[in-house]
Amino acid sequence: MLDVREVTKIFGRKAAVDRVSFRIDGPAFVGIIGRSGAGKSTLLRMMNGLTPATSGKILVEDRDILALRGTDARAWQSDCAMIFQQFNLVPRMDVVSNVLHGILNRRSTILTLFNLWSRADILRALAILDRLGIAEQAPKRAEALSGGQQQRVAIARALMQNPRIILADEPIASLDPMNAQIVMDTLKRINVEDGRMVIANLHTLDTARRYCDRVIGMRDGRVVFDGLPSQLTTGVARDIYGADASFNEAATSTAIPADHAADARYAATMLA
Ligand SMILES: Nc1ncnc2c1ncn2[C@@H]1O[C@H](COP(=O)(O)OP(=O)(O)OP(=O)(O)O)[C@@H](O)[C@H]1O
Ligand SMILES: [Mg+2]
Repeated sequence: MLDVREVTKIFGRKAAVDRVSFRIDGPAFVGIIGRSGAGKSTLLRMMNGLTPATSGKILVEDRDILALRGTDARAWQSDCAMIFQQFNLVPRMDVVSNVLHGILNRRSTILTLFNLWSRADILRALAILDRLGIAEQAPKRAEALSGGQQQRVAIARALMQNPRIILADEPIASLDPMNAQIVMDTLKRINVEDGRMVIANLHTLDTARRYCDRVIGMRDGRVVFDGLPSQLTTGVARDIYGADASFNEAATSTAIPADHAADARYAATMLA
């Protein structure tokens, strides 16, 4: 269903994603792991068309989605919704309007300018919020919600697009453990109940183990592991996250965000 072939992204002289290939058949829940700078976000952004690839192909039903332009490219973006670490909601806008923005690129600018949504669209947005357990938040401003609730609004906005694939870039990196679990459970439900493929960049090994059918490990832009969560052994973690010395460096370096340092520490404890 999704066939990634030799996809490469070069920034300046550096290959952020270096000839990455994998194929996903059916509605799997796939986790992508790797340390900071491994190329995880760049890979997801190329899949969604947010970043143009330097070379390679991504075939979906024999169509190379990296070659799409104009309306076809926008249609593909609707088919694969993206969820971000920082939610990317409009903070001062109410929750239901944020969800309705999932179908923005199917509407005329005039209708959007005057905030004119059809009754059917509003009911669908409310039904999605209800399904995700946050219907009572619908009239509130997005900024008034907790992080976990905001991420569920972002998932609702993605579902409004009725996508075949959900791409999630570190969806729980800004959340406390309880909200992280709620958000991951929500993504899993959508995967299992709706049969939508989910590809999530994750920053902890235990989240990948717990939720994913398959894990892809990246290092320096390359795929260094592609297998089942149960195959994520200590040796494999070492391959993905680097040798012991770099754990210390990652754990103490101020250049690496706290969550990645935590991940490196986590992996280091696995190696101990
Ligand atoms: N727009 C850009 N311009 C130049 N270099 C970039 C750009 N985006 C990413 N890079 C570089 O590409 C490499 C991969 O970055 P990417 O953000 O994909 O990594 P990541 O695995 O998502 O890391 P993190 O876990 O920190 O989010 C890094 O070396 C990064 O500095
Ligand atoms: Mg990233």
